Amino acid sequence: MGKQTMTLTNNITGDSYTYDILQSTRGPSVVDLRTFFRDTGMFTFDPGYTSTASCESKITFIDGAKGELRYRGIPIEKLALEHSYMETCYLLLNSRLPKDRELRDFDLEIRHRAYLHTGLCQLYDAFPDNAHPMATLSAAVTALSTFYNDHIEMNREEEYLEMAHRIISKIPTIAAFAYRHSLGIPFIQPDIALGFTENFLTMLRAYPGGKMRIGPYGEEKIKEIEIKALDTIFTLHADHEQNASTTVVRGVASTGAHPYVAISAGISALWGRAHGGANESVIAQLEYIGSVDRVDDFIKRVKDPNDDFRLMGFGHRVYKNFDPRAKILKKLQDQLKEELDLDSELMAVASRIEEIALNDEYFISRNLYPNIDFYSGIILTALKIPKSMFTPIFVIGRTVGWITQWIEFKKDRASKIARPRQLYTGD
Ligand code: ACO
Repeated sequence: MGKQTMTLTNNITGDSYTYDILQSTRGPSVVDLRTFFRDTGMFTFDPGYTSTASCESKITFIDGAKGELRYRGIPIEKLALEHSYMETCYLLLNSRLPKDRELRDFDLEIRHRAYLHTGLCQLYDAFPDNAHPMATLSAAVTALSTFYNDHIEMNREEEYLEMAHRIISKIPTIAAFAYRHSLGIPFIQPDIALGFTENFLTMLRAYPGGKMRIGPYGEEKIKEIEIKALDTIFTLHADHEQNASTTVVRGVASTGAHPYVAISAGISALWGRAHGGANESVIAQLEYIGSVDRVDDFIKRVKDPNDDFRLMGFGHRVYKNFDPRAKILKKLQDQLKEELDLDSELMAVASRIEEIALNDEYFISRNLYPNIDFYSGIILTALKIPKSMFTPIFVIGRTVGWITQWIEFKKDRASKIARPRQLYTGD
C-alpha cells in the first residue's frame, strides 16, 4: 500500500495541511501530527489523551472493542493458562519466550537478587507503623536507586537487563517488608529455595523461628492452587500498554532520571483508586455494602445522576466490550471457590452486583463490565491477603511492564522529553 495522508482545512483561512498516516501492525492507524504546531501555529487539544498515541511501541497490544490483550504478540489467555509469570517476564524483556535452560538461568538469577542491602532495610524504621504499604513501597524503591548509581548511564543490552532483573526480583521483598513493617512484625528474608511467587507469599505470611513456619502446627506448605492463582494475577498485571502509571514512567524516563525513580513514580500513579487502587476499593465497597439485601439500594445510588457513587471494579477507559483479564480471573475465582471451599457473604454480595450489572440497561448502555480489579480483589481476599497489599501486588506484577517500557523508551532514538502544551484561558 502506498503512503496514506490526511488533509486538514482551516475553515476560516482556507489553508490546508497534509499529514502522513502511520500504519500500525494491529489496531488503529495514527495521524503523524509532529509538525502541526510548526505548520499551523496551533496546538491539538486532548486532555486525558483519549485520542493521542504518545509513543511507538512493540510490547503490548490491546483491542478494547474485541476485548483482546497480547504481550509481544501472544494472547493473554495462552500466557495465563500455559506459562508462568517468570516466563512472561522473560517474554516482555526479550521479545520471545525462554527455552528451558534460559528459563532456569533467569529464574535462578531472580532468586539470587531478591535480597536487600541491610542499609535499605533500616529505612523502614523511619516510617510510622500505620503507613500504607504503597507509600513505603514508593519511598523504598526511590531509596533503592541510591544503591545502584551505575544504572544511570547504560548502553549495552546486558546492563539494561541487569538493571531490570534487579528491580523485578527485589520488588516482592520490598513489598513484603513494607507490609510487615506496617504490622510492626519482623521481616522474613527471601528463601533461595523458593520460586518467585511462593517466596513472596512466604515473606508475607510466615512466622519467624528456627524453622520457617507458615502455620502454628509445624511446617504447613502454601497450597499449590494459591501459588498458581497469585502467579496468574501477576501475569495478568504484567503490562497494559500506555496506561496512566506507564505514561508516568515514560515521562520520568524522558527527563533522564534514574530508572528506579521512574518506577517509584509509576507506583505513586498506580496507587489512585481510578487506577490500581481500585482493587482495594472493591473490597472496601463490598464490605461497606455488607449484605445481599442492601445491593439494590447501592445500584440505585449508582444510577442517580445527582450521586457521585461509582461501583468500584467496573468500567475501563479502553475495554468497552469486556476485559479479557477479568474473564480469566472469573474462572479462577470459581475454581478457588470450589477448591478452597469458600462461601462468604462478601462473595455473595459480589455475585449479586455482577449479576445486576451484566443485565442492567445503565451498565450495558455505558459498556460498564467488571474489570480485572473486581475479581482480583475477591481472589486476593480468598488467598488471605490483606486489603492494604492488593495494590502492592499489582505493583509486583506490573514492574516488569514498567521497566520494559522504560528500556524501550531509552532505546528509541526518536524519543523526546515529555512536554505537552496547554489551552491558556487565564488572565
Ligand atoms: N460505576 C458507575 N458508573 C460508571 C462507572 C462505575 N464504575 N464508571 C463509569 N461510569 C459511568 C460514568 O458515570 C459516565 O456516565 P454518564 O455518561 O452518565 O456521565 C460513563 O459511565 C462514562 O464514564 P467515564 O468516567 O467518562 O469513563 P472513563 O473511561 O473516563 O473512566 C474508569 C474509566 C476511570 C475506569 C471508570 O470506569 C471508573 O471510575 N471505574 C471505577 C474504578 C475502577 O474500577 N478503576 C480500575 C480501572 S482498571 C485499572 O486501572 C487496572
